[in-house]
Amino acid sequence: MQDFEQFIGSFSFDGRLAEVDINSSVAHAKMLVKAKVIDASDGEKIISGLTSILRDIKGDWKLPKDEDVHYAIEKELIRRIGAVGGKMHTARSRNDQIATDLRVYLKQEIRIIVNLIKDFQEVLIAKSYENIDVIMPGFTHLQPAQPVLAAHHLLAYVWMMQRDKERLNDCYKRTDILPLGSAALAGTSFNIDRQHTARLLDFKEVSDNSLDAVSDRDFAVEFVFCMSLTVLHLTRFCEEIILWMNPEFGYITMGDKFTSGSSIMPQKRNPDSAEVIRGKSGRIVGDLIALLTIIKSLPLTYNRDLQEDKPPVFDSLDNLKPCLEVMKEMVDSLRFVKEKTLKSTEKGFIAATEVADYLARNNVPFRSAHAIVKDIVLYCKGNSKTLSELSLEEYNKFSKVFKKDIFEYLDAKNIANMKTSYGGTSKKSVLRQIENIKNKLKLEVK
Ligand code: ARG
Repeated sequence: MQDFEQFIGSFSFDGRLAEVDINSSVAHAKMLVKAKVIDASDGEKIISGLTSILRDIKGDWKLPKDEDVHYAIEKELIRRIGAVGGKMHTARSRNDQIATDLRVYLKQEIRIIVNLIKDFQEVLIAKSYENIDVIMPGFTHLQPAQPVLAAHHLLAYVWMMQRDKERLNDCYKRTDILPLGSAALAGTSFNIDRQHTARLLDFKEVSDNSLDAVSDRDFAVEFVFCMSLTVLHLTRFCEEIILWMNPEFGYITMGDKFTSGSSIMPQKRNPDSAEVIRGKSGRIVGDLIALLTIIKSLPLTYNRDLQEDKPPVFDSLDNLKPCLEVMKEMVDSLRFVKEKTLKSTEKGFIAATEVADYLARNNVPFRSAHAIVKDIVLYCKGNSKTLSELSLEEYNKFSKVFKKDIFEYLDAKNIANMKTSYGGTSKKSVLRQIENIKNKLKLEVK
C-alpha cells in the first residue's frame, strides 16, 4: 500500500514554490504587524526565521519533506524560532496561500516566457531581412498557389508570436489579483489590510469574493492555453521546416547541430529538433486537457482536486521554454537555397492568378478571366508546357486581350513584387511590415 501521506501530499511537485511561499509569508507577517494582529517583536522573529530558511534553500540545504510546501516551511520555522512561528498562519489558510503562490510564480514565468518569445521574434525578423530577395511558392492546400517572399512567410510567424505574447500579457492581468486574506473560504474576522499585502507582493488588485478567490484556477487554465497555442504555432513552422529540408523541396539547410544521423542509413541528416518540438506539443496540449478536466464540475470552494493543477502547469512551462530556445537557435541556423525556391515557382502554374488579373485589368470580368485561364492551364497540361513556354499566338487563341507584355506577368519575382497592397508580399510592403513590427517591439518593456 502506498504511503497515504505521500499520496495526498504535493511536496514532490510544489517544492518549487518554496521561495514564493516564503516571500508571501513575509508579506503576510508584515501586514499582520501593521494591522496589529500580531506584535511587532513576534513579526520580526517570524520574518527573520523565514529569511534564514530562504537563505538556506538558496544554498545547498534541503527543506525537510512534508505533506506540502506550506507545512514544510511552517514546521521548519517553528523548529527554528519556536511556537511563535505558528502565529504566521493567523488570518489565512493554505487555500488562499496556494492560490497566491501559484499566481506569484506564474507572473514571474509569464515575464520570462514573453521575453523568450520576443528573442525568437528578433531572430525571425533578422532572417526576414537576410532573405528579403528570396522568392518561393506560397501554398494553399499545400499546393502551389502564388509566389511570395520567404521573408513574408517568416514574418507570418512573427505575428503569431506577437499574438501569443499579447495573450500572455492579458493572462497576466487576471493573474495579478491577490487571493491572500480570503482565508479558507469565507474571509477572516481579523481586521487585516489586504491592500497592504497586495502592495508588498506587487499585486495590482485584491480579489473581491473570497469563495471565488480560493477556488479560481482560470488564470492557470489560461496560462496553459497560452503555452498550448504557442507550441502549436511552433509545430506549424516545424512541420514546414521538415518539409523544406526534404530534398524534394530542398528549400533550406539546417545547422548540423540541430540534426542527427541514422544508426543504419549513413546518408541521413534528420531534422530532429523540429520533430521533437512538434512531438512535445502533445504533452502541452495534454496538460491543458488535464487542467480543464480537474476543474470540471468542481463545486465551490476549495477542493483537494485543485492540488493536481500544479503538475500540468509546471510541465507546460518546463516544456515550452526549451522549445522556444531551441526554435530560436534552429531558425537562426537555417539557410535558404535561393535557386531551389525560385526553381520551385516554375511548377504548378503559379502565375495563373496573375494572368487572370491581367485580363481583369484589361476590362474582362474577373469570373470570365478565371475561366479563360483555367482553359489555358488545361491546354498547358495537355501539351506539357508551362505558362512561360506559350507563345503570344497561343495566348491569343484564348483571348485577344493578351499583348506581348503578358510575359512580364509570368515572372515569379515580378508577380510577388506587384503585390503592393498593405500587408501584401511585395518587397516594399514587406519592408514596411518589418518596420511596423520592429516599432511594436521597441515599445515593449523587457
Ligand atoms: N497542497 C494544497 C494544494 O496544493 C494546499 C492547500 C491544501 N488545503 C487543504 N484544505 N487541504 O492545493
